[in-house]
Amino acid sequence: MSARKVLILPGDGIGPEVMREVRRVMAWMDRSLSIGFEVEEDLVGGAAIDAHGTSLAPATLERARAADCVLLGAVGGPKWDKVAFNIRPEAGLLALRKELGLFANLRPALCFEALVDASSLKPEIVRGLDILIVRELTGGVYFGEPRGIETLPDGSRRGVNTQVYTTGEIRRVARVAFELARLRSSRVTSCEKANVMESGILWREEVTHVHDTEFPDVKLDHMYADNCAMQLVKNPRQFDVIVTDNLFGDVLSDEAAMLTGSLGMLPSASLGAKDAAGRIPALYEPVHGSAPDIAGKELANPIATLLSFGMALRYSFGLGEEADRLAHAIERVLATGIRTADIMQPGMAKVSTAVMGESIIRELEASLA
Ligand code: IPM
Ligand code: MG
Repeated sequence: MSARKVLILPGDGIGPEVMREVRRVMAWMDRSLSIGFEVEEDLVGGAAIDAHGTSLAPATLERARAADCVLLGAVGGPKWDKVAFNIRPEAGLLALRKELGLFANLRPALCFEALVDASSLKPEIVRGLDILIVRELTGGVYFGEPRGIETLPDGSRRGVNTQVYTTGEIRRVARVAFELARLRSSRVTSCEKANVMESGILWREEVTHVHDTEFPDVKLDHMYADNCAMQLVKNPRQFDVIVTDNLFGDVLSDEAAMLTGSLGMLPSASLGAKDAAGRIPALYEPVHGSAPDIAGKELANPIATLLSFGMALRYSFGLGEEADRLAHAIERVLATGIRTADIMQPGMAKVSTAVMGESIIRELEASLA
């Protein structure tokens, strides 16, 4: 069997802890299912700044290009608050996304039955929730030019960022959303602020164009992003797939994550366009950040990172069955009342990051019996 090349970038904060559990699950899959991963590990974010003075070393980027996919933990922390803006930990992550052309960020928000009471919303609102946010990831205000902080003649300062989208950037992410919707409930809600922004008007027109010409069978609605934020807490199950730009997607996906009980549960996949060899560049990461306040304390929930690895199994390696096996193992562990601190509830057993990982491996083992 050909090796599956994975580059692991644990990063900062709780990144290394949660990624350690992924490595254990990978080792289990190697051993018990003969899957054959070829794993390399490297630095990104603050850890890379400490070692190389830059948050993404050129050699790391080359290794990322050569791998079938990248698994990333998290970047950032107060330790690097004072480094130059262009080399801050987050810049390494943004450069990876941009350089690998990962324009489509898939963020599923799925409420596990065992966690309906962990959500800050009422159980009847989140029970059965299964939505997918498709966030544009390499354009918009995150990368738009001009940008910067300038000093004006009167000595005051001006900060500038530019929200910019082209036809091509909007169409390609819209296609991803429509294609994924066809595999689900065939409904797409496109979000922008066409009432205030020209880029929003273009977004709406282009998404409509892609819909009318290529995906007329999918139901398309448009919604202002602020209304979407409100609807997500009012009635989140009205959504199937939400497609939106980089900045709105950043905000709405954090909000959607919280519906599921904890940010510690939400995985993501960032995908690019198929190359000539038929390979799709891909990076998988949990939506939660580096959580420096709990780093190194064995309190972190590894499930978002494990589910991100599950997305890698499904999208990069065509191992949907093994992705399902992992998801079911996680579901069973939750059903038996095992919880990390972030999803702890009365009467449940609170465990460390490592014990959560071990429990999941035990359930994986049981799935073979
Ligand atoms: C995310 C994060 C990043 C973003 C940060 C760490 C740069 O919040 O992946 O949602 O804003 O995209
Ligand atoms: Mg974010």
